[in-house]
Amino acid sequence: MQFTVAIDGPAAAGKGTISKAVALQFGFAYLDTGSLYRATGVKALEVGRGVIEPAIAARLAGALSQTDLDRDDLRTAMAGQAASKVAALPDVRAALLQFQKTYARREGGAVLDGRDIGTVICPNAEVKIYVTASDEVRAMRRHAELVQTKPKLTVTQVLSDLRARDERDAARDVSPMKPADDALLLDTTDLSIDEAVSNAIKAVQARLK
Ligand code: DC
Repeated sequence: MQFTVAIDGPAAAGKGTISKAVALQFGFAYLDTGSLYRATGVKALEVGRGVIEPAIAARLAGALSQTDLDRDDLRTAMAGQAASKVAALPDVRAALLQFQKTYARREGGAVLDGRDIGTVICPNAEVKIYVTASDEVRAMRRHAELVQTKPKLTVTQVLSDLRARDERDAARDVSPMKPADDALLLDTTDLSIDEAVSNAIKAVQARLK
């Protein structure tokens, strides 16, 4: 059976948590597509000693290994910004396209989360969900995560970082972040994790019937 759940939305809206829970519930595979861009961004910064060179980034994107995706520094704020920068490069997106498309249509079902899953990677996905939350709530959630390793980080810094990233992700020419016309909009601002997950699970169940 091929069945794709496409979960898109801005940073820290709850996509990852919801996607993992949906994948677990239905026994689907899960791909965090942001990690592909994060791994590419971090490697491109290393190779360019702090400067991202587009041609090198595209080459690195086409040759990512599991080790690159398992790095423990992919969740840092710096990796997030680097990811957003390489994600605006058409050749980087092209290098990562086929892997994601194949993953989406694998046997047994798949959940992919990202920015362009419902619009570009899998426009025929059986279920599309666009997860949002207010900027302030997203910043507070991301701050709680990052402050563990960066105790001096403020919510204001996280908020401006998120806004800069969202702006770049939504304004780029190639595959900008936006809801697919047929996506279910899930605003998690006032929802608990359980409530958000249960809404997503209901949408998948309705389509599986
Ligand atoms: O989901 P995330 O925060 O890990 O994503 C990091 C960056 O990667 C995000 O700012 C934009 C980019 N990205 C993208 O352009 N397309 C995707 N499908 C996933 C992520």
